[in-house]
Amino acid sequence: MLFTPLKVRDVVFRNRIVVSPMCQYSSEGGFLTDWHMVHLGTRAVGGAGAVIAEATAVEERGRISPNDLGIWSDEHVVALERMTAFIDSQGAVPGIQLSHAGRKASTARPWDGGVPLDERHGGWRPVMAPSSIAFDKSYPLPKELTLQDIDDLIEAFADAAERARQAGFRLLELHAAQGYLLHEFLSSVTNRRTDRYGGDFENRIRIVLEVTEAIRIRWPQRLPLFVRISTVDWIENGGWSIEESEELARQLKSRGVDLIVCSSGGLLPNLRIPTMRAGYQVSFAEYVRHHSGILTCAIGGITSAEQAETILESGQADMVAIGRELLNDPYWPIHAAGALREKIDLPVQYAREID
Ligand SMILES: Cc1cc2nc3c(=O)[nH]c(=O)nc-3n(C[C@H](O)[C@H](O)[C@H](O)COP(=O)(O)O)c2cc1C
Repeated sequence: MLFTPLKVRDVVFRNRIVVSPMCQYSSEGGFLTDWHMVHLGTRAVGGAGAVIAEATAVEERGRISPNDLGIWSDEHVVALERMTAFIDSQGAVPGIQLSHAGRKASTARPWDGGVPLDERHGGWRPVMAPSSIAFDKSYPLPKELTLQDIDDLIEAFADAAERARQAGFRLLELHAAQGYLLHEFLSSVTNRRTDRYGGDFENRIRIVLEVTEAIRIRWPQRLPLFVRISTVDWIENGGWSIEESEELARQLKSRGVDLIVCSSGGLLPNLRIPTMRAGYQVSFAEYVRHHSGILTCAIGGITSAEQAETILESGQADMVAIGRELLNDPYWPIHAAGALREKIDLPVQYAREID
């Protein structure tokens, strides 16, 4: 099952293993670097079905850090093109995650402390959010997006999708999870707006639907569109719920979304999320798949071939994304094929006898 190809629209994934998008904080001015070529390229060589580039900013102020990957200008396309061509040449589907960091923008990269950065230290102001509520005391107070800002933002996502197509990506993942801008609209904890983008459920999901519709016009019908959501907020007595995820997934499906990547959390600091527990979010992928009738990708604490196989065999999800374990072992798919006694094609350079 893990090695059963999956066709979504006109794209065939050679197996169900997805390299989860992981920020590398290794760009300058949003440009792809040699680090990305090696990091993503190695995982394509390693046998994954899809390799998804990290959260990529659709506008400059939507970066998490000054070193995020970006796609807010046409100039970013050329370097990305080189990478998609390589991933393709290795038989993996090149994907990109389009993102806006919202109120969690303008921070130092993790190994520089991950703290909010002011303008004197390479940060920027204002940071933008649905409502003017800071992530925590140390973060800047965000500026509430105006209706014009929202229109511009939707356009920025659509332009980014167009550039992604030009760069040769064949899979697009919209980032509406983990406390970043689109998630901030979804959850009533961070969205206190009183206009058509806040308040009841239909208003809170409006921007995600509008971004999706705008992307779908510019992103070819033959290519798959995934959306990553935080299926639950892990906030007691409030926040976004799994039932809301179910209904959002249904509405996204009717607008041309093919698959929901089922993440969770990220909206508030210091949430207690069992990130070290095996498969800690898998039941959410199962719930959304069964109740919304859409394909899902499970993510979180998936580390062994047998575990991944069971998730797929038992119908909990249609794909599995892997993050940290693929940092430990870029050849995880090759090793998983060995464990499951499945055949996998090695790159020709590696598939030879000793001279
Ligand atoms: C170094 C690192 C960077 C990450 N960056 C992103 C990102 O850019 N976009 C995203 O949606 N999730 C990001 N994540 C979350 C992962 O994609 C994944 O959802 C999470 O690590 C859980 O999966 P795992 O248990 O297999 O690692 C990141 C995780 C790590 C470890």
